[in-house]
Amino acid sequence: MKKIEIAVEPAYNVFIGENILDKTGELLTASKPGVSSVYIITDDNVSALYLQRVKDSLTMFKTFQYILPHGEGSKSGVSLLKIVESMAKNQICRDDVIIALGGGVVGDIAGFAAAVYLRGIDYVQVPTTFLSAIDSSVGGKTAVNLTAGKNLMGAFKQPLCVIFDPLTLNTLSDKVFADGTAEAIKYAVLKSPSLFETLSKTSRDSLMNIISDIVSECVCIKGDIVSRDEFDRGERQLLNLGHTIGHAIEKCSNYEISHGHAIATGMAIMINGASKLALTSNIDIKRQIFSLLEKYFFKTTCEFSTDEIYNAVLSDKKRHSQNINIILPTQIGQCEIRKITLETMKDIIREGNFKNG
Ligand code: GLY
Repeated sequence: MKKIEIAVEPAYNVFIGENILDKTGELLTASKPGVSSVYIITDDNVSALYLQRVKDSLTMFKTFQYILPHGEGSKSGVSLLKIVESMAKNQICRDDVIIALGGGVVGDIAGFAAAVYLRGIDYVQVPTTFLSAIDSSVGGKTAVNLTAGKNLMGAFKQPLCVIFDPLTLNTLSDKVFADGTAEAIKYAVLKSPSLFETLSKTSRDSLMNIISDIVSECVCIKGDIVSRDEFDRGERQLLNLGHTIGHAIEKCSNYEISHGHAIATGMAIMINGASKLALTSNIDIKRQIFSLLEKYFFKTTCEFSTDEIYNAVLSDKKRHSQNINIILPTQIGQCEIRKITLETMKDIIREGNFKNG
């Protein structure tokens, strides 16, 4: 089993190991002695696959469960209220712990419930998707969506620990697995030429053979950034590479286009538009990123109009009045945060969302 420390205050561990799902109770106890009840939040897909195994490892606790319908639609204020009402009804108290068993939707809403219920109780992330293992389960960003946009109501709340069993990825569809591949490409572009090379020379099918190494590398990159900028005031914004346009694409598609696919396209539109507008001086960077995105069959343009995407960008939480910060790759493994006007953002979307011309 690997153990990666996330050096925030207090520090916590990300445990990575095959079959550690069966050690959930043991790892929870090691992270926090004296827990009596555990409240598991999961969804209807994941519960059918892994809930019983997790519960079997929790025999020392009284357990409760809340099963959400799968999908982004569950990440709402309405679901959040139902969860915390049910926790109160079951007399979950401050010494108890929530377990978020599932992907990003479950992790984000369960983390937010942990942040607000009784003004904060502990929670453990047990990610079961590639994307949640390398991104949303680490770093303490929790949220639900509002009608106006994604993740607009939330809190920073670090988990007690993260428990990731790579074998859970065996049950993912290709499409859901690819959501994680897109985030891994993001980390490679941000910080790791060696990960970029690994992803360039590995076939999709053989990624599973090296999945623990890939997840560990991405978690280390994220952990380093989060330890220096837990509250997203500076360097952590780098992790939003592709996300401003990506979140807009998700919203325009009514969340039919999933997060990883949307941020892959968002990355492509951003780098294409920025190259055409000469915002980046590295003329090869677009070719390098496009070639990796296309290798994994990600779309580099989307069907929405400039206005549709731009209007969705306006409700992005990263916007500041008339400006917005974008993340621009300068070379593979290096990116910069650049403040641009909303007008330039619109130009990037217009220029970036078609291949030629
Ligand atoms: N997913 C971006 C962040 O955690 O900051």
